[in-house]
Amino acid sequence: MNYIGSKLSLINFLQDTIQTVTGITNGKGYVFADLFAGTGIVGSTFKQQGYFVIANDIQHYSYILNKHFIENSSPIDTSKLDYLNTLEGVDGFVYQNYCSGSGSGRNYFSDVNGRKCDAIRIELEDLHLNGQISDKEYYYFLACLINSIDKYANTASVYGAFLKHIKKSAAKEFSLKLLPIIDGTENGLVYNEDINILIKSISGDVLYLDPPYNARQYCSNYHVLETISRYDHPKLNGVTGLRDSTKQKSAFCSKRTITDVFEQLIADAQFKYIFLSYNNEGLMSLDTIKFIMEKYGKYSIFTKDHRRFKADKDENREHKASATVEYLHCLTKN
Ligand SMILES: C[S@@+](CC[C@H](N)C(=O)[O-])C[C@H]1O[C@@H](n2cnc3c(N)ncnc32)[C@H](O)[C@@H]1O
Repeated sequence: MNYIGSKLSLINFLQDTIQTVTGITNGKGYVFADLFAGTGIVGSTFKQQGYFVIANDIQHYSYILNKHFIENSSPIDTSKLDYLNTLEGVDGFVYQNYCSGSGSGRNYFSDVNGRKCDAIRIELEDLHLNGQISDKEYYYFLACLINSIDKYANTASVYGAFLKHIKKSAAKEFSLKLLPIIDGTENGLVYNEDINILIKSISGDVLYLDPPYNARQYCSNYHVLETISRYDHPKLNGVTGLRDSTKQKSAFCSKRTITDVFEQLIADAQFKYIFLSYNNEGLMSLDTIKFIMEKYGKYSIFTKDHRRFKADKDENREHKASATVEYLHCLTKN
């Protein structure tokens, strides 16, 4: 997924640095926690390295992606794929609220794709409830639906707004594509909680933290994926159709609250090694991070130049700066 803050392009840097600092080359017997998990790329990588992975994210679509990547392993029965892909479209929540043909006034997906998304989403719930697919298959196909439909979104970047006219990539008929299955030594555990609450009840060896860097709330930027994931028929508000996400507003996206929740997180963490990804344009300054982390043990910092998040290649958007500096702050806790 083209996700704000995705660490896909930094994964080698993260792996190398974490290995250098911890000295762990084979994760077997160690616990790695990825608690702002997003797309799940970091946890997946460390799962493949043998670690037992704990993943978490406050967003439900991320929880589903991670339920698949972290808790599933081969083999998974994918024989229902063709059946799901050839279902007749239905006028469900997505069509009624995010497609213009229904008169919703919103244009996030073409009518055909919205109706197809509804058909698959509704069928997955029925198949699961009736015991025709296992938990494992349910999370797999739902993760595939979230990942696949995102590629056909009629947006310039995230779901903060939709385009007036259906763009080329959104006009193509969407089909469910299978995501990779990540195998490791063992399957991990996935949560869907606020990190500051979860941290009190878990422990392990390596804690990786990748919080939002700025005031852009993920619940607003990815609200459409959240609704497809939950399929809970929420009341939508305004032109863009935002769902109520009061409970998912992140304290890491506010200058007023971030320092306190960050320090509390570090204080509560029962992990020997803590790594924090942050860039030079984030809400917390380098000095603040260093000041807080140093209180709790031995601190060091690693840097890497990084290309800025590019929302959508199709739109050929220009950005003021083409690169940012990515920092990996490391703490070995006392
Ligand atoms: C920078 S992104 C993580 C990207 C991820 N490492 C990846 O490579 O895809 C930050 C994530 O933190 C989540 N998040 C924000 N505040 C949170 C909180 N208080 N508790 C748990 N997750 C939170 C967001 O939903 C978002 O997915």
